[in-house]
Formats: sequence, structure tokens, C-alpha cells
Amino acid sequence: MTDDFFSSALEELERRSLTRRPRVFEACDGRTVTFGGAKYLLFCSNDYLGLSHDERIAAAVMEGVAKYGFGSGGSRLISGTRPPHAELEAAIARYLRAEAAVSFGSGYCANTGIIPAVAGRGDAILADRLNHASLTDGCRLSQADFFRYPHADTAALEKLLVKTSSARNRWIITDGLFSMDGDAAPLDVICGLAEKHGARVYVDDAHAFGVLGENGRGSASLCGVEGRIDLTVGTLGKAAGGTGAFAVGKKSVVDYLVNKARSFIFSTAMPPAAAEGNLKAVEILADCGERRREFLDSVRAFGDGLKRLGFAASSESYIIPLVIGGAAEALAAANAFWEKGIFIQAVRPPAVPEGGARLRLTLSHRQSPQDREAVLSAIGTIIVGR
Ligand SMILES: Cc1ncc(COP(=O)(O)O)c(C=O)c1O
Repeated sequence: MTDDFFSSALEELERRSLTRRPRVFEACDGRTVTFGGAKYLLFCSNDYLGLSHDERIAAAVMEGVAKYGFGSGGSRLISGTRPPHAELEAAIARYLRAEAAVSFGSGYCANTGIIPAVAGRGDAILADRLNHASLTDGCRLSQADFFRYPHADTAALEKLLVKTSSARNRWIITDGLFSMDGDAAPLDVICGLAEKHGARVYVDDAHAFGVLGENGRGSASLCGVEGRIDLTVGTLGKAAGGTGAFAVGKKSVVDYLVNKARSFIFSTAMPPAAAEGNLKAVEILADCGERRREFLDSVRAFGDGLKRLGFAASSESYIIPLVIGGAAEALAAANAFWEKGIFIQAVRPPAVPEGGARLRLTLSHRQSPQDREAVLSAIGTIIVGR
């Protein structure tokens, strides 16, 4: 019986072009991936600043392994904390000008642990409909009343704030830079509404951390609302090039999370060497203005290239959705890029809404101007000329 259940579920996925299989790449250097002995230009990683292969970070990790071994051997509150964990948290708080920070094993763990810690029965969560899955899962786990407003629709958000005025605590939860659409949340308006209606603001800044805003401090800096966000989550696996995540806020908020966030308490601590590598990455992020400028210039140049092709991009950032619609058609388009030596992954439901299958094209500091030209030319034939 169970076999029937699994095979018919898999057949249904196949029928709808929604089956997923991890592709095993023999190598990746941040700019290309190698598959079956051939190299493909990589245009779908989250390695925006190209730090995943940074030698300074790799050296810090190796020194960390030499000093601390590999595993942490326990959860953070039992035996798993070493100096690099504390130093990493202090460095993140310093960089983001926050009172305190706490690290997590991943962004998924952070959101699914933090949201149920800060919201529960009697509370209300108002969330952007296009939030990342980890936020949505955290909201569902929390047992708070959960409302979703249409993407970036602050008028709809305000109606929900009025409707939920009797809730004990209210949280507005949003991505900072939307992971699948590449546009920025209107945090200035959101913070104003939160202040007007007595709600708190939670921003998942996974994709803006390290890149956008002054010195890469992220969406709050970009929107001029630093100091007005109650809780910010960021990940270390994207622009920082490493692994893990963090939350920053007031010291009382962080101390509360250390005591209440179940994914912090009941999970093995990040390997100390990984914390050492992440610490080096945060130090680099705090002092890499030129790399960031070069990258953002290349993002602008790529946007101009799209305009020249007559492609109306819905994002001006380094996450550019090439929306196709159907899942099968998105797979076919990804395949057409692959045949031209370019890897851009098709993203299908449930990662995006039904009918919104797309290629999620991303830019990285590792790509050369020639790489980007090759991709623009392929977009001209595969997408614009469709
Ligand atoms: C907005 C957002 N939050 C959280 C995550 C999860 O982070 P991690 O990959 O560290 O689990 C992602 C990952 O893609 C994301 O895009």
C-alpha cells in the first residue's frame, strides 16, 4: 500500500513536470560547473559576491579544522559552543550595527525556529504572499493566526492591520529582497504602518545581506529604516559564500531567542571551523566596497543589456526572473540554455506560484563580461525570440 502511495505521488509529479533530482556536478569554481566532463557557465547560484571560493575564507576554515577538529559535538547550549561561534556573532552584530546576534545552522532552521518562538496562539502574523518557504513554514508552525497579503501590497497590509487590531502581538513578516522575484520589499512603508498600528517587523534579508545598502548592510539600509526593524534574519550561504544563518536585533530579543528558539536549542552547533570561515567572510563583507561596487555596476550593465534586447525585466537586482509560465516549458527553456553551455535552473511550483514557473537567473562577481554577453545573447534567442 505504501509503495502505491509513493509511486503514484511520483507519477503525478512526473505528469506535471514537477519531478526534482539533484544534479551531481563534478566541480564548481563559482563561475562554472562541470558536468559529464563539460563546463557550463553558472548563472543560478546565490554566490553573488563570488566568496564561495575565496582563498582567505578557505584558509580560515582549514585553520579552524586544525584547531577545533570537525564536528562541534553538541548543541550550542550544551557542549557545542567554541570561540568562533561567539566571535562570529559579535562580528555580525558589529557589521550590521545591531545590539546582538545569534547564529543558526541554516536560514531554514532560523525561520522555522524563530517565528514560533516569537508568535503563538492569540498573535497574528501578516506575511507577504511571496515570502520564502522557510518563513511560510515558520508561520504555520507558530499556530498564530496567519494572513497573507498580495505581494508588496501595503494597502492590503494596512487593511489586515486594522482587521487584526485585537490580537495580542502582531508581526509583519517579509523577505527583504524577494528570493524568486528579485525585487525589494517596501520596508519604509511597512515600518511606518507597523509603527502606526503597533505591530512588529521581521525581515528575512537572506538575499540583500552583504550586497545592498550602505556597505552591504542590507535592505534596512537600502530603504533608510535601520534601527526600525525588530528582528532581521540573514543567511551566510549566499553573499557571504559559506553556510548557516543569523538573527540580529536588540540584546533582549537575541537573549530571548537563545532561550526560546527550538532550532537553536535542539540542534547540533555549526562546526567551529565553519564558524571560523563565516567570521572571515563577515570581515570581508565589512570591507569589500570595491568588489561590491564592481558587482553592482555589472548588475546595472546587465540590466541595460536586457533593455537593449527588448526584455522587460521585472527586477533591477542580481536576481532576474525569466518567467515562462508552465513547468514543462520552463524545463524546456532551461534545457535550451544548457545546450548552449549555460546553467540556469528552472524553478517550478511550489517554489513559485502555479503558472509562474521560471528560470531564476542570478549574477555573480565571478562572472566575466564575456560570460554575461554570452548569456544575454542566449536570452535573445531563447526567451525574447520565443
Ligand atoms: C529568503 C530566504 N530565506 C531563507 C533561506 C534558507 O536559507 P538556508 O539555505 O541557509 O537554509 C533562503 C534560501 O534560499 C531564502 O531564499
